[in-house]
Amino acid sequence: MIKIAPSILSADFANLQRDISAAGEAGAPYVHVDVMDGHFVPNITIGAPVVKSLRKATDLVLDVHLMIDRPDKYLDDFLEAGSDIITVHYESPGYSETLIDKIHAAGKRASVSIKPKTPAEVLFPLLPKLDMVLVMTVEPGFGGQSFIESTIPKIRALRAEIKKNGYDCELEIDGGVDASNIGACVEYGANVIVAGSAVFGKGDIAKAMAALKEGIGDRDV
Ligand code: DX5
Ligand code: ZN
Repeated sequence: MIKIAPSILSADFANLQRDISAAGEAGAPYVHVDVMDGHFVPNITIGAPVVKSLRKATDLVLDVHLMIDRPDKYLDDFLEAGSDIITVHYESPGYSETLIDKIHAAGKRASVSIKPKTPAEVLFPLLPKLDMVLVMTVEPGFGGQSFIESTIPKIRALRAEIKKNGYDCELEIDGGVDASNIGACVEYGANVIVAGSAVFGKGDIAKAMAALKEGIGDRDV
């Protein structure tokens, strides 16, 4: 099944519960939470206290994307805050495979992300132990950017590797997806699709979700 993961980066931060409920009612199983530290990416967003509050506000799966230099230092905070899936970046200075084991030891789902210029192959050896991989389809840092087409072969390569070996690993993509290209993204092989501005930047969340679902149609991976 294809899952839409609305990114709250484009939601109304004064009304997160309202916006998340609307997305959930419109069929979103995941809520994508973008954590930025102003070092790994040139933007600052939210930290573990907000995840903790979101945990109380929703039963949806909290899909927490750590765009930070030191995931090793802050991982426990995000685990304790109630994250369901934690994504760490392969390029983060504090990244190591140990983080995957720590996430699993806490009973949560582990994911590793690559930026647009990082080759897909670095993730191949990790696939057997990962619950999800995240291919960034924009340079991380901001919502509302355009989809980078050169990431398409990486999505295809990861899907092929997952299929070939029968791995139980989701493939998420993040950045520049809207109703016009979401169907193509599923055809490339993504099964979890992050959408920020395409869900929360349109005024009517239910309508925006319906347009994305229509874009997916009956496609599957
Ligand atoms: C960007 C974030 C994305 C962002 C996507 O660094 O990781 O999750 O919110 O926004 P859109 O869907 O607007 O490209
Ligand atoms: Zn993200």
